[in-house]
Amino acid sequence: KENKMVKICCIGAGYVGGPTMAVIALKCPAVEVVVVDISVARINAWNSDQLPIYEPGLDDVVKQCRGRNLFFSTDVEKHVYEANIIFVSVNTPTKTRGLGAGKAADLTYWESAARMIADVSKSDKIVVEKSTVPVKTAEAIEKILTHNSKGINYQILSNPEFLAEGTAIQDLFKPDRVLIGGRETPEGRKAVKALKDVYAQWVPEERILTTNLWSAELSKLAANAFLAQRISSVNAISALCEATGANITEVAYSVGKDSRIGPKFLNASVGFGGSCFQKDILNLVYICECNGLPEVANYWKQVIKINDYQKSRFVNRVVSSMFNTVSGKKIAVLGFAFKKDTGDTRETPAIDVCKGLLGDKASISIYDPQVTEDQIQRDLAMNKFDWDHPIHLQPLSPTAFREVAVAWDAYEATKGAHGVCILTEWDEFKDLDFQKIYDSMHKPAFLFDGRNVVDVEKLRDIGFIVYAIGKPL
Ligand code: NAD
Ligand code: UGA
Repeated sequence: KENKMVKICCIGAGYVGGPTMAVIALKCPAVEVVVVDISVARINAWNSDQLPIYEPGLDDVVKQCRGRNLFFSTDVEKHVYEANIIFVSVNTPTKTRGLGAGKAADLTYWESAARMIADVSKSDKIVVEKSTVPVKTAEAIEKILTHNSKGINYQILSNPEFLAEGTAIQDLFKPDRVLIGGRETPEGRKAVKALKDVYAQWVPEERILTTNLWSAELSKLAANAFLAQRISSVNAISALCEATGANITEVAYSVGKDSRIGPKFLNASVGFGGSCFQKDILNLVYICECNGLPEVANYWKQVIKINDYQKSRFVNRVVSSMFNTVSGKKIAVLGFAFKKDTGDTRETPAIDVCKGLLGDKASISIYDPQVTEDQIQRDLAMNKFDWDHPIHLQPLSPTAFREVAVAWDAYEATKGAHGVCILTEWDEFKDLDFQKIYDSMHKPAFLFDGRNVVDVEKLRDIGFIVYAIGKPL
């Protein structure tokens, strides 16, 4: 019985479920991995040549194991029933209404997955929290699972994911650590070992950390809070650089040279985006408040406030330098994804910047190598926090923005523009022919670099009026 083949089922075929399971399948040829989702469109895409997410190296991994020991299916019940290890990697957005709205994690999708597992299971299961969840979620999940357990033994593990988009495959191949939290009972330890054996196929032993459940759940929220805090710290200093003539690149480099601080993740920007930093910090803030720790809650809240400040500061800079109005002016926006090498736009700072410019009646022309026009229009039409609630994924309202055009390349976007905003650090933006862009623009030609990708001096020599985050004006 000990030797029976491990069958893994992952509920949720998104940015986390898809790549993590593809890598497990690649590294563990003896394990059968099935990724299931309620979204038929998503599963169809995973089974096609056009995967639903853009991630460097992903195509290659999927091609190697799809149909061998990696499968994508909408038959959720069947594969949950057959699996011994079930990963749950569904979305856990911020609640938009009710208790904790705007802060607390919405566990609706998680709960329905847990209820479904309880309904269809006929044998013992290890249920793995892959989604990022509030501390103590495992306790709630356990209640749901064991409520009507028909004698089935469920072991809940917390195995948070630390991959970053754009580098997901390399992060999964060589993770800094894999974290597994479980119950400190004999059955709990056995379950931890079973999951550890999967990762041990390619991750060195010393990088697989095991903790109790609550430490694992909290470590994920804490890690994202620390990462986001670094960005807000460097962004806060960037504002002071602009006011004083210091240069944020030089300051960040000097600060990061201290081995206690380290050089990574100190790039000043127009603000952090992505589906997780804000959501997870809000979640952390809410948990602190619920535990009677308002001072701790306020401390972390500040990370988000500085991020919002950085985005509005950028918009204000654009408008104020263009003689206090962008009304009727064409502003080119280069980059819409929340970072390079992904087509993901969730919580991208570009949404807030574009909304700010539209609020001042600009007409904007957007180019991003990986984001579709449909996605951009939908993002700009959506309210804050609504993006991860499928009920809102409705067709475009007739009020789609007429002031927003989407261009097929950077030259088209910038042609006849009064100003250019660089909002994503795509490599191709570094090598643009800026003389050609300058020649096609209205003068004075403004360029606002929200990612510090251009050579400011070179552009000033061409004739641009350049503003770059944290750089002398
Ligand atoms: P996602 O929205 O891309 O994917 C979630 C998928 O779950 C969707 O395809 C949805 O249709 C499916 N789903 C929802 N309810 C379901 C159900 N009951 N049964 C079957 N399928 C269901 O989300 P994601 O970006 O993959 O994130 C998933 C979780 O991982 C979140 O908690 C997130 O915080 C965490 N996380 C994300 C990242 C990242 O880089 N995106 C990194 C680490 C952790
Ligand atoms: C982040 C974490 O890095 C992952 O470890 C974590 O697993 C993930 O969140 C998650 O929980 O979802 P991700 O959001 O995909 O990953 O990408 P990051 O590289 O962290 O970038 C987040 C945002 O911060 C981007 O908008 C990026 O442009 C910005 N950023 C990043 C900066 O502005 N400056 C930096 O120095 C680094």
